[in-house]
Amino acid sequence: MPANPAPLRILQPDDWHLHLRDGASLAAVVGATARIFARAIVMPNLKPPVTTVAAARAYRDRIVAALPPDASFVPLMTLYLTETLAAAEIERARDSGFVHAIKYYPAGATTNSESGVTAIERAYPALEAMERAGVVLCVHGEVTDPDVDVFDRERVFIERHLSGVVARFPELRIVVEHLTTRDGVDFVRACGPHVAATLTPQHLLYSRNALFGGGFLRPHVYCLPVLKRETHRQALVAAATSGSPKFFLGTDSAPHARGAKENACGCAGCYSAPSALELYAEVFEGAGALDKLEGFASLHGPDFYRLPRNTGHVTLSRRDHVVPAELPFGDTTIVPLRAGETLRWQATLGSDPIFQPPPGN
Ligand code: NCD
Ligand code: ZN
Repeated sequence: MPANPAPLRILQPDDWHLHLRDGASLAAVVGATARIFARAIVMPNLKPPVTTVAAARAYRDRIVAALPPDASFVPLMTLYLTETLAAAEIERARDSGFVHAIKYYPAGATTNSESGVTAIERAYPALEAMERAGVVLCVHGEVTDPDVDVFDRERVFIERHLSGVVARFPELRIVVEHLTTRDGVDFVRACGPHVAATLTPQHLLYSRNALFGGGFLRPHVYCLPVLKRETHRQALVAAATSGSPKFFLGTDSAPHARGAKENACGCAGCYSAPSALELYAEVFEGAGALDKLEGFASLHGPDFYRLPRNTGHVTLSRRDHVVPAELPFGDTTIVPLRAGETLRWQATLGSDPIFQPPPGN
């Protein structure tokens, strides 16, 4: 690898797993994603959750209204799966043209998941309707059984629940969100082409050691599913950089105010949106696989979701820059992933490496 490689030009990427929140928080973060990404699958875990097509339409309109004036960003909406989601609503989602997936949260697994599914069997009628309608299921794949070790929640979910869902609904397209384990990678690889996974920057960059770096508790790398052992991280990097169309970019950028993270009961979620593509570039460069970045970031996702690929481009240039220590977030602040640290890559929209400072600088 040369010390200063030539700028890399790739088709404009999409983010297939994003939290944008609402109100002032939405206004504070949406520009960071729209700076680089053409589209994003927007998670429905608002309070209350987005459970109807009408609510998704209203949320989409609020997102579009909050965009910076020059942005051309398309939010791809999702519904929050509940045990009572009706087949008629699933059909409405398919026909809407703007709802692209339905998200399964096990009740109590993560932020705003109280209304989630208490036992996946209870959602089988909805899954059957989704299989019939051709609507994608996005899965937060963790058990919430308190007897299961927190680091084993994904593996046990796959063994106890997800393998059964895949067998029972063979035509259902499933994205296993924010995959964190070697077991998860092996499972997704072994399934047919209708099962894929998103991978986040934090799970590709960090093992669970990062949670305790230097002997301190590091709330800004605390997310769910929690970071895992180094061997799992290596399996995720191998999957991301393999060129397999089953693995694609989903940041799970999940903004929480600084005070909600730096707290005795700190919230889960990493805010990666301001530097997301740059962070992935670092991972791919580290693996000697920059030539695989475009597939992961810009091709596999739209192909799986059966949406057109983007036509614009982004350029990644090798240019050191420091991530802001914090950014405005409504009437408070937010700490982005890698705050205060130097990143090697800088992404800009378009084909030429013209400098655009990241938001907040
Ligand atoms: C997400 C959030 O804050 O909404 N948190 C996280 O740690 N990833 C929820 C989720 O995706 O699990
Ligand atoms: Zn998420």
